Amino acid sequence: MKKDLLSVSDLSQKEIEQLIEQALSMKRKDMPSLLSGKTLALLFEKPSLRTRVSFEIAMQQLGGHAVYLSPEEVGLGKREPIADVARVLSRYVDCIAARTFSHQTLLTLAKYSSVPVINALSDWEHPCQALSDLLTIYEKKGKLSGLTLAFIGDGNNVANSLLLAASLTGINFCVASPPSYEIKKEILNQAQKFATSSGSQIKLVSEPREAVKNADIVYTDVWASMGQEAEAEKRRLAFSHYQVDDKLLALAKGDALFMHPLPAHHGEEISPGLLGDPQSVVFDQAENRLHLQKALLAKMLRQPIRG
Ligand code: CP
Ligand code: NVA
Repeated sequence: MKKDLLSVSDLSQKEIEQLIEQALSMKRKDMPSLLSGKTLALLFEKPSLRTRVSFEIAMQQLGGHAVYLSPEEVGLGKREPIADVARVLSRYVDCIAARTFSHQTLLTLAKYSSVPVINALSDWEHPCQALSDLLTIYEKKGKLSGLTLAFIGDGNNVANSLLLAASLTGINFCVASPPSYEIKKEILNQAQKFATSSGSQIKLVSEPREAVKNADIVYTDVWASMGQEAEAEKRRLAFSHYQVDDKLLALAKGDALFMHPLPAHHGEEISPGLLGDPQSVVFDQAENRLHLQKALLAKMLRQPIRG
């Protein structure tokens, strides 16, 4: 049976820990023929810098090949049905990484594809980002379980995946969102179940200052995600008290990390210059997309990793 990665919750705590270990070992050691002869389709409905480049370079560094397919040329569900695209691509490639507006599109792709499908971001989750972020946190802090992460802002795709990843691995998660922009019940319930066995504490607050108290990590993301451009002005008003700046960061632990998946909207969710703060690890996060996804591709394409 093929195994997809559509949600962080498709993985167990043990699998996540193994991925992090494998990513660390792949970061130390080149494996230029691990995926020799393997191919990956990158099927994107939205723009990307990090996800596209890190997947392409990951395949190249492992001896495989990636093919990028832009929205204009495929016309997923427009030029032809999603199911047909899935069945055709399955005849050419060994894996599909797809970035879609609707999560339902991903589910349909996965249903009709005979090769594994990776969620490269949908409106519901961004698992590759969250898993890479765990790698960054582990590298900087030497552990996951027992840390506290404060997420400030929109209960969006990045927040959803991060909450699931935290609750699976024992990280406490405190989120501050304005009313109507909280993380959805469905994800909270799922995370609460994971937290029961991992020991994470999950807290929802409305005040950013309360959320960052005792935090080891302060994390934020854009107020209007891709596809929500028409709501940008309304969201700027709703989120105006949710900017992360050096004053807010100073209320967290003295050695707290500042994290953001990028792209960032300077002057909105972050104060100008914050990416360059000594506590910011945002470019390590971006780099770790490459290493974590190399480990993920190796796992998805069922190649045992040695060394
Ligand atoms: N963080 C992230 O997924 O970036 P891109 O949208 O540039 O891929
Ligand atoms: N929440 C953002 C993340 C971008 C990586 C978006 O979906 O646009």
